[in-house]
Amino acid sequence: MTKGRYLMDYEVKDLSLAEAGKKRIAWADLDMPVLAMVRERFGKEKPLAGRRMSACLHITAETANLARTLVAGGADLVLCASNPLSTQDDVAASLVKDFSIPVFAVRGENRDTYYAHIEAALAHRPTMTMDDGADLVNVLHSKYPERTREITASLEETTTGVLRLRAMEAAGALLCPVVAINDAATKHLFDNRYGTGQSTIDGIIRATDVLLAGKRVVIAGYGWCGRGVASRARGMGATVIVTEVNPLRALEAAMDGFWVMPMAQAAKVGDIFITVTGDIRVIREEHFRAMRNGAYVCNSGHFNVEVDIEALEKMAAKKTAAIKEHVDEYKMGDGRSLFVLGEGRLINLAAAHGHPASVMDMSFATQALVSEYAVKNADILEPRVYEVPRSIEEWISGLKLKSMGISIDKLTDEQEKYLTSFEMGT
Ligand SMILES: NC(=O)c1ccc[n+]([C@@H]2O[C@H](COP(=O)([O-])OP(=O)(O)OC[C@H]3O[C@@H](n4cnc5c(N)ncnc54)[C@H](O)[C@@H]3O)[C@@H](O)[C@H]2O)c1
Repeated sequence: MTKGRYLMDYEVKDLSLAEAGKKRIAWADLDMPVLAMVRERFGKEKPLAGRRMSACLHITAETANLARTLVAGGADLVLCASNPLSTQDDVAASLVKDFSIPVFAVRGENRDTYYAHIEAALAHRPTMTMDDGADLVNVLHSKYPERTREITASLEETTTGVLRLRAMEAAGALLCPVVAINDAATKHLFDNRYGTGQSTIDGIIRATDVLLAGKRVVIAGYGWCGRGVASRARGMGATVIVTEVNPLRALEAAMDGFWVMPMAQAAKVGDIFITVTGDIRVIREEHFRAMRNGAYVCNSGHFNVEVDIEALEKMAAKKTAAIKEHVDEYKMGDGRSLFVLGEGRLINLAAAHGHPASVMDMSFATQALVSEYAVKNADILEPRVYEVPRSIEEWISGLKLKSMGISIDKLTDEQEKYLTSFEMGT
């Protein structure tokens, strides 16, 4: 671990990795045209000038391009990781060395270091924060509640974080304004569905080299992420089984053509299990008992609590860690082997590179534009959870289409009138 000062305080694995990280950042940038446009304008207009920002995000090449954009806009930015296993150490090194952006993140860091890094980001005394899972804003609320008064807005990237922050709002415990980036159509419709869909399958394949064709893939949760993972697994030739607790979502999965059944039943027949619920202990002792020899179990939901690995540790006669990179074997007393991928953490970031840049282009253009919106509206924001303004979503989707070379029709005057009136009938 390289800790020290390189024009600033930072803590990354090794600064000599920077060259590889720089290339990776440049490669991702090629597929992030909307964010690049925001960066260019930010460079001229400096809408974030004088803002101290602390961002707790997955430290990936795509995040690096968001960081460059915020800094171009004038922000004084510090980054820390939002998951101990998602940091790309070369990218972290390049952010420090090539872009002079302080980063506190080392892939594989333990819980203490993870929280020490959040503390380091908070020591920056941010006036604006970004989170992917609400860990930074949670520490801020629990340990430094008086400092929440300094926060213009806190931007939250993922479903799990938004759920936590809405729970705080409902309990009257939210002390600063929050914007639910995840709930913007430009985020969850694309990032959660197509990003998680593709990169989760990518992570499983990289970890195991498995052939998906002919496998029974069990997906827990048919939300935005689950829909994406299910359709991609089907596309690779798997038979997909969905488990749900929400009748509407279960019905949707059934009518989309997937098998739907309770986990207790799915556990007996599945070859590969993927949780994407944002819930706790979705796969637990009773399910491990029922699983077939050789089953793979992984998670792509935000926290590593969806698969009850503690229970598995207790049940197993023997554990062989890293039997293959990203794969731990649990040998049961009855001779079965169950394989847990990526230690039950987000498999798409643990074993693969996370979402493709093209989809993060939209999520992070949303983040950047909402930071500008928050600065402009600082006077009217209150401690509650806000939606992303519609105008930002429309601007981003229009530009993304343009960057893909797609043009669409415009309403004629007659159509516009027809759609907004009630007098015209058959
Ligand atoms: N891997 C990634 O890169 C990535 C990206 C985006 C979001 N996420 C995370 O993935 C998780 C899911 O996000 P989403 O946007 O799909 O959420 P969502 O709310 O749209 O869907 C979650 C679904 O899980 C279902 N569910 C809850 N408990 C369940 C249980 N015990 N068994 C079966 N189903 C259950 C819910 O009914 C819901 O339909 C969140 O933790 C989110 O933060 C991960």
